[in-house]
Amino acid sequence: MSKITVIGAGSVGATIANDLMIQGTASEIVLVDINKQKAFGEALDIYQGAPFCSPAIVRSGDYEAAANSDIVIITSGLPRKPGQTRLELAQVNVNILKDITPQIVRVAPKAIYIIVSNPVDVLTYVFHKISGLPEHQIIGSGTILDTSRLQSALAKRFFISPKNVHAHVYGEHGDSSFVPWSLVHIANNHVNVYKDSSPDRDRITWKGEEEYEAIEQFVKTSGGQVIKAKGATFYAVAMSVCHLCKCVMSTAGTALTVSTMMHGEYGVDDVCLSTLALVDTTGVRGKIMNHLTDEEVSKLQNSANKLKEVISQITY
Ligand SMILES: NC(=O)c1ccc[n+]([C@@H]2O[C@H](COP(=O)([O-])OP(=O)(O)OC[C@H]3O[C@@H](n4cnc5c(N)ncnc54)[C@H](O)[C@@H]3O)[C@@H](O)[C@H]2O)c1
Repeated sequence: MSKITVIGAGSVGATIANDLMIQGTASEIVLVDINKQKAFGEALDIYQGAPFCSPAIVRSGDYEAAANSDIVIITSGLPRKPGQTRLELAQVNVNILKDITPQIVRVAPKAIYIIVSNPVDVLTYVFHKISGLPEHQIIGSGTILDTSRLQSALAKRFFISPKNVHAHVYGEHGDSSFVPWSLVHIANNHVNVYKDSSPDRDRITWKGEEEYEAIEQFVKTSGGQVIKAKGATFYAVAMSVCHLCKCVMSTAGTALTVSTMMHGEYGVDDVCLSTLALVDTTGVRGKIMNHLTDEEVSKLQNSANKLKEVISQITY
């Protein structure tokens, strides 16, 4: 039995709800949106596929309908308008979060909260400050999507399943994110030596360190490429959030790059960004303190400083 509420029934929220339904992740899915008609239409459309899925209820409603949810996913927000700065958008979406937070926390105080709306690290930080909830209940989707973009890109290059690619994106879900390449392994080999052990050595074209920059640029710009080509990104992010929900529903403990509050780890404090953390039924069980090189630590600190600069300019 699991009840999942999705706040924001736009492209991302509705696709998450549909994925939760298709994958049998929840027994009850509630869609809440300021645009009640949109939430109603999306819930009805998804529910009418119910005969082909595991038994589940999908409905739209107000905050009361979200009472006692196990997981709440926040996807509400506005996209950036032409001429609007990222900072202006941050304030708009922070204001929406301020409107939502007391209403949902009142009815679902025990839920694990997953923040997806952008700028996700800033909103995760603000949610920590205004919700009054324990830290372990708050997870920013952070760089899960960037990490899956990285893993799928490397998987293609090495002719191997993404499941055998241990590579992660750390830092901000945004321009200052980076890959700690010292930790990147393919089927137990460091990325730069895997080719020598692989049966595909004759067709792997990986040149080593000189490839890092291009791969990171691809990860950072591919969301923009999708938006340019089709107007929005929602399939991959929805799949990543649906996976995150499954991890939250298991006691196994799954290592994911989620955005969590930092308390001096790697010299970073009082900001939310992504490092590897263990996720389970408690929400965030704790961070995995992998060894990073000095250069990687300073990249993480740079990412933290960029986020702190935005946070210092918004009102919450
Ligand atoms: N973290 C990630 O990896 C990632 C990836 C893609 C998109 N996003 C973010 O997800 C968010 C949603 O994107 P989208 O494409 O679904 O946008 P969208 O415009 O399609 O949907 C947003 C929805 O939020 C609703 N909303 C606005 N104010 C509200 C309020 N006060 N209460 C309840 N609902 C409200 C709107 O009515 C709309 O239906 C954006 O901030 C986007 O940047 C995050």
